[in-house]
Amino acid sequence: MLDSAPSVKFQVNGEEGRVAGDPLRRLSKVLREDLGLTGTKVGCDAGDCGACTVLLDGKPVCACLTALGQVEGASITTIEGLAQDKFGRRLQDAFLETGAAQCGICTPGMLLAAKALLDVNPAPDEAAIGEALGGVLCRCTGYRKIFEAVAKAASGAPPVFQTPGRGNAVGARLARLDGREKVNGADRFGADGIPPDALWLKIIRSPYHRAAFEIGDVEAFIAAHPGLVRVFTAADIAGRNAFGVIPAFADQPVFALGETRFRGEAVAAVAGSAEAIERFDPRSFPVAFNELPHLATIDAALREGAGLIHANRRNNILVHGRVAKGDAEAALANAEVVVEGDFETGFVEHAYVEPEAGFALRAGDRIEIAACTQSPYMDRGDVAAIIGIAPEAVRIIPTAVGGGFGSKLDLSVQPYIALAAWHLDRPVALVYSRPESMASTTKRHPARMRVRIGASRDGRLTAMDFSADFNTGAYASWGPTVANRVPVHASGPYVMPAYRARTRAVHTNLVPAGAFRGFGVPQAAIAVEQLYDELAHKLGMDSLEFRIANALTASDPTVTGQVLGAGVGFKACLEALRGPRREARAEAHAFNVSAGGPLRRGVGIAGMWYGCGNTSLSNPSTIRIGLKCDGRIVLHQGAVDIGQGSNTVITQIAADAVGVPVGMLHRVSADTDLTPDCGKTSASRQTFVTGRAAELAGKSLRAAILRTANAGPDAIIRPGDGHIEIVDGGVVRTLDLAGGPFDTNGYVLAAEETFDPPTTPLDANGQGNPYAIYGFGAHLAEVEVDVELGTVKVLKITAAHDIGRAINPALVEGQIEGGVAQGLGMALMEEFVPGRGENLHDYLVPTIGDVPPIVSILIEDPSPVGPMGAKGIGEQALIPTAPAILNAIFDATGARIRRTPATPDRVRSAILSLRLR
Ligand code: FES
Ligand code: FES
Repeated sequence: MLDSAPSVKFQVNGEEGRVAGDPLRRLSKVLREDLGLTGTKVGCDAGDCGACTVLLDGKPVCACLTALGQVEGASITTIEGLAQDKFGRRLQDAFLETGAAQCGICTPGMLLAAKALLDVNPAPDEAAIGEALGGVLCRCTGYRKIFEAVAKAASGAPPVFQTPGRGNAVGARLARLDGREKVNGADRFGADGIPPDALWLKIIRSPYHRAAFEIGDVEAFIAAHPGLVRVFTAADIAGRNAFGVIPAFADQPVFALGETRFRGEAVAAVAGSAEAIERFDPRSFPVAFNELPHLATIDAALREGAGLIHANRRNNILVHGRVAKGDAEAALANAEVVVEGDFETGFVEHAYVEPEAGFALRAGDRIEIAACTQSPYMDRGDVAAIIGIAPEAVRIIPTAVGGGFGSKLDLSVQPYIALAAWHLDRPVALVYSRPESMASTTKRHPARMRVRIGASRDGRLTAMDFSADFNTGAYASWGPTVANRVPVHASGPYVMPAYRARTRAVHTNLVPAGAFRGFGVPQAAIAVEQLYDELAHKLGMDSLEFRIANALTASDPTVTGQVLGAGVGFKACLEALRGPRREARAEAHAFNVSAGGPLRRGVGIAGMWYGCGNTSLSNPSTIRIGLKCDGRIVLHQGAVDIGQGSNTVITQIAADAVGVPVGMLHRVSADTDLTPDCGKTSASRQTFVTGRAAELAGKSLRAAILRTANAGPDAIIRPGDGHIEIVDGGVVRTLDLAGGPFDTNGYVLAAEETFDPPTTPLDANGQGNPYAIYGFGAHLAEVEVDVELGTVKVLKITAAHDIGRAINPALVEGQIEGGVAQGLGMALMEEFVPGRGENLHDYLVPTIGDVPPIVSILIEDPSPVGPMGAKGIGEQALIPTAPAILNAIFDATGARIRRTPATPDRVRSAILSLRLR
């Protein structure tokens, strides 16, 4: 600790110390920067997220709102000291055992809040746990496993960690292999490993949706600000001043040139010492912005004569998407029953608890970037193109990622820290503030959808016409992917004889919309799954039986003409909901006839499907696995774990493929210098694509080992010290590895295998095989609506998902519960308005009090293509939640919500409009 006066004396984790400095300094900064206790996380610096929770004399406080001067004489407990106490140790074990930590960025705050609870209430009920943890946000878990973990810790029951043996890893509820550092605060996120001698950056951003700008005398500016060292602008970019996740559409400038296209767009970056950057007021930067008229809506952008946001994109349309099968128009004209409707959804913010962060340093002619990301190899290519060097000269070392959900696929801090470190030859760091993160990074696309669906009188679907415009904001990001994925999925997993789906991604002067768990499919499901309910009602059919009657099977062609042949467990998902739905409806009915007052209960269902991986595009993953001379088997696993669990499930798959216990594998996690390209963590592709590559590589290594030992296919591989043993039919053979020979990676034996899902291009009508496999699912929502206030409380979600094979059931449940929580937020509360509410106080995400009990039903209809039958689950889990809730609101009230989120004012107004009819 620092020792100069004036200073504040306090205890941290039982150790006495003093810290000198401004008494108004945030305690979170003191802990992280002065004391190196980076287990205390910062998600907002405003008291909204609770990530910085520490104990002050045993009571939970937000360290970001506590001043250094307030802790004189106090005793502080941080995550690093939690294990000193029995409740702390029990909580850490219980979080690990139950899977209550996913990405882990909220975990220190959660654990400390839980510890404070157990100290005063050693046997809390669910209400007490909810109340105690209500100030800490978690965006990953859906909170259910956090409830479970706290209750488990309170019970005092010893933890039970599964230790699967040889060949039993797949299917085991194995605790997250990288989980211990998430519960003890040792995990290093983007802001945690910044070298003390790093310079820092501040980005100068446009305050207007559209503006012309001119930068003034930056040399005079630097001279007038001690500690600031340099300004970077577009003039400093030797390579390409543009980036984008789809190379053909890369259009976002690192620094705008003369004109900005959205509020929050970068125009310059200022580098300086940490103190100077902290002192620096961006308003003092010499730039003159001149606000220009902007296009804020899809209508405005499409209006005839509207100015073009990009000169080469006619009518402000980035891209069109289309799938057509049969004559949908004629089939709708001939349909015996037709329903139709218009639906609208808003921007949704990812609201991961970790704002974008990282640092870069130059190593000779190379640049190394340690930052949070979902896509290291894509980052490598884009950064190289921006700096003007070869991709091999860029090393991306992903830090732990405190939630991504799609937005950390796009570059954020990377080009700025790389550029500055390259020019200054010093480590350079950048950590986005919460408002900066929310203003400048991608969102879920707002959608405006019109849908018509036809059926025969006996309840068979005959046709659908779906059209949608997506507000893709100022730059392309994943707009083309959304526009192309949605037409393939808009029908849902139903037999649809005639179909037409058309989409457009439309530019506006708003923040770019990109990838967010589902790539537009959740928006389409909100429209279509509500209309399926309307159709069933119009037909006089039960809405679940209607879906079962029309459910896609393995032998039915999809709307793109693909026949999947196997691994289509949708009907099983729906059928699994029959019993729970019967009970839920009986309970809701009993409540409604007896309760009186303004509360009404309802039950709703919705189905989903989701193609795993890229749409009709190559998206390979490569896994390397090798045997070291000391007998270790090393798995180079480059699928970035953003909390979904790839570090664990890929290892489980590889262990079974080699035929060794999980503990015999040593993992090297994503690093572009050390791991082959496993593609991006998105589109529910890692378990499927990288998992299959791991299975292939594991089997290849096994074959090589057995071949070398001249052993049969059923032989057992056992670890030894400096050797391995092969047990074959009672004969033990020893492979002595010390003498090599070694390959270029230092392995005695190694395998490297690539898997690329078999797809075909889509023709002009969108016909073909866009995905090798689909995941399927259906949700049942039970809600209670206050018809006077318009408020909606979700009472329970039952989620049935066909995941092919549950590689790790605990992690699958975690994905489902987290997806449900995000779907609930999308249904009821979340809407981002650019320029307003760029903080976690105004932008509401579900808290622990908002997420109801969630029952996961795992259907395992194996995919012949996936590893050991497995499919992805990341996106799938979110898609049906919102339409199931909206259908339940209708069931409770008779009011149909066509504009989400279903905020109380919208629900109330829909109910009132019924009364006026
Ligand atoms: S960082 Fe302190 S509450 Fe968010
Ligand atoms: S595990 Fe809670 S925010 Fe990621």
